[in-house]
Amino acid sequence: MKVAIGSDHGGVNIRKEIISLLEELGIEYKDFGCECGTSVDYPDYAIPVAEAVANGGYDRGILICGTGIGMSIAANKVKGIRCALVHDVFTAKVTREHNDTNVLAMGERVIGPGLARLIAETWLKGEFEGGRHANRVGKITAYEDQHM
Ligand code: RB5
Repeated sequence: MKVAIGSDHGGVNIRKEIISLLEELGIEYKDFGCECGTSVDYPDYAIPVAEAVANGGYDRGILICGTGIGMSIAANKVKGIRCALVHDVFTAKVTREHNDTNVLAMGERVIGPGLARLIAETWLKGEFEGGRHANRVGKITAYEDQHM
C-alpha cells in the first residue's frame, strides 16, 4: 500500500504522528506537506493528495486540518475520491467496510494524537465488504461518470 499524506498549518502535529505510524507499519508514503510555520490554504494540500490517489499513484490519502472539514470538502471534489471525516474508531472501521473510502480526513483541533493514530491504523487496516455496499458505492461512481 502507498499512502499520500498532507495537512495545513492546523494539522501539522497529527500529520507527523501519522507519518511515524506509517513508518512503524512499514507503509510506503509521500509527504505532501505543508512545510508551514505560517497560515496556508487547505485546498492547496487536499487537492494534490486527492489527485495522487485518484490518478492511481497512491492507494490511500490522509489529510489533516484544524477541523478536517475543509480537507474533506476539497478532497471530495476530485472525481473518484471518497473521503471520510472521522473522529472515532467505529466510523474509521465502518467507513472502510461500507463506503470503501480512499481518503481519511481528521481535525487536529478536535481530537488528540493518540486517537488520531488509532483511527488511522484502524482505517488503513480496514477491508471493504463489497456486496450490497459495492452496489451503493457503484451508484456514486455512476453519478461521477455521468456528471464529472
Ligand atoms: C485553518 O484556520 C482552518 O480553517 C483549517 O485548518 C480547517 O479547519 C478548515 O476546515
